[in-house]
Parts: sequence; C-alpha cells; structure tokens
Amino acid sequence: MNWYSLATYYDVSFSHEMREELLFLQNIFNSYSTTNYPSLIEPACGTGRLIIPLSRSGYDCTGFDLNESALSYLKDKLIRNQLKANIFRGDMANFNSKRKKYDAAYCTVDTFRHLLSETQAAQHLLNISKSLKKNGIYILGMHLIPEQGVSDKITRWTAKRGRLTVRTTMEMLKLDKINRAETLRVILNPKTEYINEKYESIYKLRTYTLKQFKKLLSTTNVFEIDNSYDHFYDLSKPITLNTRSDYGVFVLRKKN
Ligand SMILES: C[S@@+](CC[C@H](N)C(=O)[O-])C[C@H]1O[C@@H](n2cnc3c(N)ncnc32)[C@H](O)[C@@H]1O
Repeated sequence: MNWYSLATYYDVSFSHEMREELLFLQNIFNSYSTTNYPSLIEPACGTGRLIIPLSRSGYDCTGFDLNESALSYLKDKLIRNQLKANIFRGDMANFNSKRKKYDAAYCTVDTFRHLLSETQAAQHLLNISKSLKKNGIYILGMHLIPEQGVSDKITRWTAKRGRLTVRTTMEMLKLDKINRAETLRVILNPKTEYINEKYESIYKLRTYTLKQFKKLLSTTNVFEIDNSYDHFYDLSKPITLNTRSDYGVFVLRKKN
C-alpha cells in the first residue's frame, strides 16, 4: 500500500502541528521577495497540505506530484474552497518549468529524499534553479543522518479532524549507510465511530549527512545556503548545523 494514495488520511496525519512550518514559510517568502504575493512552486505537493493555506493567503501557487489520488484530493479541495492554484502531474526527477519563473520553491518533510540517486537529486536542483527568477530561493527541509550520536528510530503521533482520528507510526526498518538508503515503515490507523483500519506502507528514502548534502550543493553549484534552521522552524533563530544535527531546514539561494 502506498500511504500517499490514502489522501484524506495522509492529509489529516501530516497537517498535525504544521502551524510553525506554515508561518515560517510565509515569513521567509515575504522577507526574501520583492513582490507582495510571490509566485511559489512546490515539487511533490501531495494533497496540498501547504498549497491550500498558501493560496488562501493570496500566494500564486503551483504544485505537482506523481500521485493521482493526492492530486485529485487537492483539486477537489481547491474547488470546494473557491481557491485557485496551478496543479498538475509531474516528476520531481525531471520537472523543469520552461515558461514560468518563480520567486520561490519549497519542499519540506523529507520529500526531496524521495529522489533515490545522486543523479536524480542533482538534476532536480539544476531544474529547480532554472525554474526560479534571479535571486530566487528554494527551501528544503529534511532529516539528516548525524555523524555523531543517533537519531530516533520510531515516531508516533495522533491527528484529529472532525470525527476522524489518524494515528501514525513511522519506523526506520533499515539504514544502509553505504548505499545511502533508509527503509521506512508507516502504519496509518484511521478511526471513526464506524471504522478502525490499519494500512502499512514500506518505502525507501535517500539519506544525507550534512556533509553529503553540502557536497551535492557544491557539485551542482546552482544554490548556496543562505541560512539554516532546525525542526522548530523559528525564523528568529537560524542555526549552524553540525555533525550531530539530525534535521535541517535550508534556505537555498539561487546563484546567479
Ligand atoms: C511526504 S509527502 C509530501 C507532500 C507535500 N509536499 C506535503 O508537504 O505534505 C511526499 C510526496 O512526494 C510525492 N513524490 C514522491 N516521489 C515523487 C516524484 N519523483 N515526483 C513527484 N512527486 C513525488 C509523493 O506522491 C507524495 O505526495
């Protein structure tokens, strides 16, 4: 089972405690952009967890994803809320915006790590940089593999929307540091008064130490790190990531 196809359950689960993330993104877009309502692109936008509130706030939003269920959930939600955004099917590995150039791109919650090879990740950065205007920014948020210390293996949280409760358990099953692949298992347990279901999804993500991520940036040479933050998304507290860091939110600036 691909849990991204369980659009409603994914959306409820991942919308849990996203207030700081959303505020952080809005503040960054406003502070880095010269226009009032910057044009934004979200590679692998999923159910539009972020696109819906950003469109509502007046940003000019574009998003693409490979998952048809997530896309149709998002399109329906835009219509229901009388919002507009440009949504289409596309692959992060090769998307390149030839016509429109954006003020900013963003891709948080480990989504960039779905690009499983160095070639795909590098191509993605090159394509996104070409899709941005001069001085454009790309916000990337993801877990890092600490070179010292260990990271949590299992995370659980419970999210509620109306009568639906979704309990999520995310577990790292295997970490292959040589091939830079992490195998994850997600168990979604949606419950209402009528249902009590369990869905299991197992998938791989590419891993990055801070050093490996910086190496990717230096080989591709299209972005530089303007600032970095941790998972608290506190704009007033940029941090210097180090070999112990297990999460990084990078504000990348396009090199011109
Ligand atoms: C963790 S979800 C994030 C969704 C959304 N960005 C959010 O913040 O809620 C990861 C998304 O990446 C999408 N995805 C994975 N690989 C992709 C690819 N190569 N191209 C486009 N979308 C992809 C999945 O379908 C899924 O919707």
